[in-house]
Amino acid sequence: MNTLLLNLFILLLFAHISCFLLLLPVSAKVFLSIDCGSLSLEPRTDDNSIVWVGDGPYIQTGETHTANAPTDIPGFDSKVMSTLRAFPARNKNCYSIDIDSKSDDNTTVDRVLVRANFYYGNYDKKSIPPTFSLQFNGNNWKEIVTGMENIVYEEVVFSLKKGKNINVCLAQTQPDNTPFISALEVRSLDSDAYNYVPSDYPLMFINRTAFGSNTVIRYPEDSFDRIWGSYALNITRALIRVRSNSPSINVNVEDKPPEAVLRTTLTSNIKTSEGMSYRRTRNLTVPIHLNAYFSEVIKLNSTQKRSFDIIVNNNLDNSIILPKGPVVPPYGGTLKVHIRNMTTFNSSLFIVLKRTNDSTLPPLINALEEFIIGDKLAQGTNSNDVEALGLLQKSFIQLQDWTGDPCLPSPFTWDWVTCNDDTDSPRITGLYLNDLGLAGRLPDFSAMDALKTINLRNNSLMQEIPEFLGTFPELTELNLADNNFSGTIPSSLSNNSNLKMNVSGNPNLCTNTSTCDTESRIPSPGNKNTDTETRTPSPNNGKSSKTSEQLIIILLIMFSGLLL
Ligand SMILES: *[C@@H]1O[C@H](CO)[C@@H](O)[C@H](O)[C@H]1NC(C)=O
Ligand SMILES: *[C@@H]1O[C@H](CO)[C@@H](O)[C@H](O)[C@H]1NC(C)=O
Ligand SMILES: *[C@@H]1O[C@H](CO)[C@@H](O)[C@H](O)[C@H]1NC(C)=O
Ligand SMILES: *[C@@H]1O[C@H](CO)[C@@H](O)[C@H](O)[C@H]1NC(C)=O
Ligand SMILES: *[C@@H]1O[C@H](CO)[C@@H](O)[C@H](O)[C@H]1NC(C)=O
Ligand SMILES: *[C@@H]1O[C@H](CO)[C@@H](O)[C@H](O)[C@H]1NC(C)=O
Ligand SMILES: *[C@@H]1O[C@H](CO)[C@@H](O)[C@H](O)[C@H]1NC(C)=O
Ligand SMILES: *[C@@H]1O[C@H](CO)[C@@H](O)[C@H](O)[C@H]1NC(C)=O
Ligand SMILES: *[C@@H]1O[C@H](CO)[C@@H](O)[C@H](O)[C@H]1NC(C)=O
Ligand SMILES: *[C@@H]1O[C@H](CO)[C@@H](O)[C@H](O)[C@H]1NC(C)=O
Ligand SMILES: *[C@@H]1O[C@H](CO)[C@@H](O)[C@H](O)[C@H]1NC(C)=O
Ligand SMILES: *[C@@H]1O[C@H](CO)[C@@H](O)[C@H](O)[C@H]1NC(C)=O
Repeated sequence: MNTLLLNLFILLLFAHISCFLLLLPVSAKVFLSIDCGSLSLEPRTDDNSIVWVGDGPYIQTGETHTANAPTDIPGFDSKVMSTLRAFPARNKNCYSIDIDSKSDDNTTVDRVLVRANFYYGNYDKKSIPPTFSLQFNGNNWKEIVTGMENIVYEEVVFSLKKGKNINVCLAQTQPDNTPFISALEVRSLDSDAYNYVPSDYPLMFINRTAFGSNTVIRYPEDSFDRIWGSYALNITRALIRVRSNSPSINVNVEDKPPEAVLRTTLTSNIKTSEGMSYRRTRNLTVPIHLNAYFSEVIKLNSTQKRSFDIIVNNNLDNSIILPKGPVVPPYGGTLKVHIRNMTTFNSSLFIVLKRTNDSTLPPLINALEEFIIGDKLAQGTNSNDVEALGLLQKSFIQLQDWTGDPCLPSPFTWDWVTCNDDTDSPRITGLYLNDLGLAGRLPDFSAMDALKTINLRNNSLMQEIPEFLGTFPELTELNLADNNFSGTIPSSLSNNSNLKMNVSGNPNLCTNTSTCDTESRIPSPGNKNTDTETRTPSPNNGKSSKTSEQLIIILLIMFSGLLL
């Protein structure tokens, strides 16, 4: 609470200062909690003081359902977990969160934490908890394997480029496994949070545990709302929880852990204990990284000493421990140790906290964060292509509920496009807009100049076939069949011998050049009147169009006469 107030205060202060010192960067704070599948229009505050909103403004696809979540799920809100949105249709379905509109200034949101939560609860009465793909901003995030009655959640931290939305997408990967989501959260972090990972790589958390705590710690204790799981103490292992007796604990270290996780610690109950060990089963092929946090619980006198070494995987891998040397937890303070590049051996990782021989007290540990570094963040589909798709979406309502990256991550494209195999910044190579009931005129999407295939079959597109369709250098297939195009076929298309074109089923289109020449040779100023260009008009129409044609010609002659 206090930190929030302070942040607000600093924000206000900076806002003030920036009036005088222009361009002072201010970090915009985002704290958005979306209760997926909730149709409630009113925000609701839960027991953790987190304010939840419905997901309507962030997605237009999928169906809402309810699941019976238990009333007491430590750390989570039962109501939030009791609604979900499921996606039985489409290649992928995406939430789109416009961060810029969430902040009231023009600043960059540097680091964000995004968390997706899943509670199945047999909502569909099929008793098959689904497995599916979770993605963010065109990147693969995680294969989600849900369970019957447990909450699965995933956290990712990454840097968001200014002006970009946050997209979280769900995609089906196995038959009869319908993707769903229960809650989606976005928290902005300090710009230097976890910044020892380069800003073009994401961090994916796989575990965060507060060993001394018997309750889940999150907001408001952690102002960034990271979730610190509690530790189920096994008495037979001779471990005990100890509470620090320091009046205050300075937590102002890298990544700012909450004071609550440094307040209680886990240590050995046996004074002579040589150490503590930690083994986790991990089936990972990528290196794991750890942040370990330590704080002394009592003020030591001159004869007491607590000191221990961290031994990773029996020193068999290339892990790097920073800072080096024995750990001496500070009283009333925080020591953070960063362990990089751990390898899993025999599907597990193994850490020993081994007391040094000059130590009079056994080791202790407060908290551990485990994460991996994901693949380099994709740039996303070529921006010219994305802009052109935006024009199509603006023109045709049928396309408007498609959000997220059109091509990435491969192979999860929008249903109506195909892309080349560039995994960083792909181009759109195919546009499949057939059978969609598109009516009206095509906008100029010539910027998509890597298109090889355009299929517009069976729509109600009308008027002339636009000239720009002849400008695509790579185009080999153009299907305009079963529409209502009229006029003539642009020569740029009809001359192109590499192009397979189908224009059948456009009754008003002039396909026979000789007939068209006699009926539609109208100087361009008169072109506005499309009726005159139709090839097979009704007899009546033909008459009237002939008359107007003559009229226009006469008018033009008069006009040019005047000019002369
Ligand atoms: C934010 O930027 C836009 C365009 O760059 C500008 O029109 C607007 O006035 C700016 N708003 C603030 C609050 O500075
Ligand atoms: C995280 O690790 C702790 C300690 O090993 C374990 O008790 C807990 O179940 C793990 N949590 C998750 C979500 O895997
Ligand atoms: C507690 O620890 C003992 C000894 O390591 C082990 O045999 C037992 O299975 C553990 N119990 C639980 C509930 O983890
Ligand atoms: C790890 O992978 C091996 C082989 O791929 C498999 O047999 C084992 O069950 C996996 N372990 C876990 C905990 O997933
Ligand atoms: C230091 O503290 C320990 C444990 O409280 C006590 O046994 C010992 O006598 C103290 N030593 C001194 C020098 O105060
Ligand atoms: C991480 O470990 C792998 C093998 O264990 C090694 O090849 C690589 O160089 C290490 N990376 C760093 C940054 O130390
Ligand atoms: C992995 O398992 C093998 C055989 O069980 C064992 O010899 C080896 O020491 C183990 N490696 C580690 C790092 O635990
Ligand atoms: C600690 O023990 C090691 C060997 O077990 C020894 O080499 C070292 O000198 C000892 N250090 C102290 C401070 O006693
Ligand atoms: C044409 O598209 C409509 C949807 O706009 C669809 O209902 C119809 O089946 C399609 N016709 C053919 C022959 O595919
Ligand atoms: C086809 O387009 C013409 C105008 O070019 C219009 O008058 C006609 O109603 C359209 N037909 C259909 C079936 O949409
Ligand atoms: C296309 O065909 C027309 C008419 O046959 C001709 O005048 C024109 O030069 C051709 N254009 C190209 C680019 O071949
Ligand atoms: C052109 O489209 C029509 C209508 O969809 C279809 O019946 C015909 O087979 C197509 N022609 C070719 C050459 O593909």
